[in-house]
Amino acid sequence: MPTAHNEAKKEDIAKTVIMPGDPMRAKYIAENYLDDYKLVNKVRGMYAYTGNYKGKRITVMAHGMGIPSAAIYTYELFNDYDVDNIIRVGTCGAYDSDIQLRSVLLVDEAYSDTNFDVAQGGTNKEILKANEYLNDKIENEAKDLNVNLIKARVYCSEAFYTKDEVYDKMYNEHGCLAVEMESYAVFYNAELFNKKAACILTVSDSLVTKEELSSEQREKSFNEMIELALKTAVKL
Ligand code: HPA
Repeated sequence: MPTAHNEAKKEDIAKTVIMPGDPMRAKYIAENYLDDYKLVNKVRGMYAYTGNYKGKRITVMAHGMGIPSAAIYTYELFNDYDVDNIIRVGTCGAYDSDIQLRSVLLVDEAYSDTNFDVAQGGTNKEILKANEYLNDKIENEAKDLNVNLIKARVYCSEAFYTKDEVYDKMYNEHGCLAVEMESYAVFYNAELFNKKAACILTVSDSLVTKEELSSEQREKSFNEMIELALKTAVKL
């Protein structure tokens, strides 16, 4: 059923949705990996495409930046479109000096000091977990693809530009190995609707060394993560 933010018909959204933050990434995935795909949402430029990957119907839709944006789109996918599985594919900044740029992280826990949960009407929780079943499937596919996955607790932050004290606190006191800005919202809504969500991240920058990936390197490591997400989706 179309919503205020999504004009897709219910039947045009698949049961498994892969979600990058950036709409241009959703377009890239559709154009490079899906057969017979069609653009099913363009409201606010938050593109969604539905097509086939190795014969499996999959939707790729962007969720934008930050908890509120990701929360709106994932809420509607679970609640209005009856989606079963959401796999976020994003980037993160590393807090740990042992984690190299281009590494692929599998989030097992999202730590956040956000007030989103209370604002939504829920109870205040600092840590939300990824779905174990989905994470097991992702780990199995990673073995097959020879992708070295690092399982991690990440900090789901509400601020991109943060002071160095934040990094010290989240790494040393809360055990977060990297920072991103949406996993908490995706996991929250999965829990709210008793659905499944997971989050795979590539390390695009380091808060320790201040290094960043070039756009070419970003694309290469992104492809590895996309294949992992798509191949997992085929098995669901
Ligand atoms: N902070 C938050 N989100 C991010 C970062 C970061 O440094 N890098 C990639 N996503």
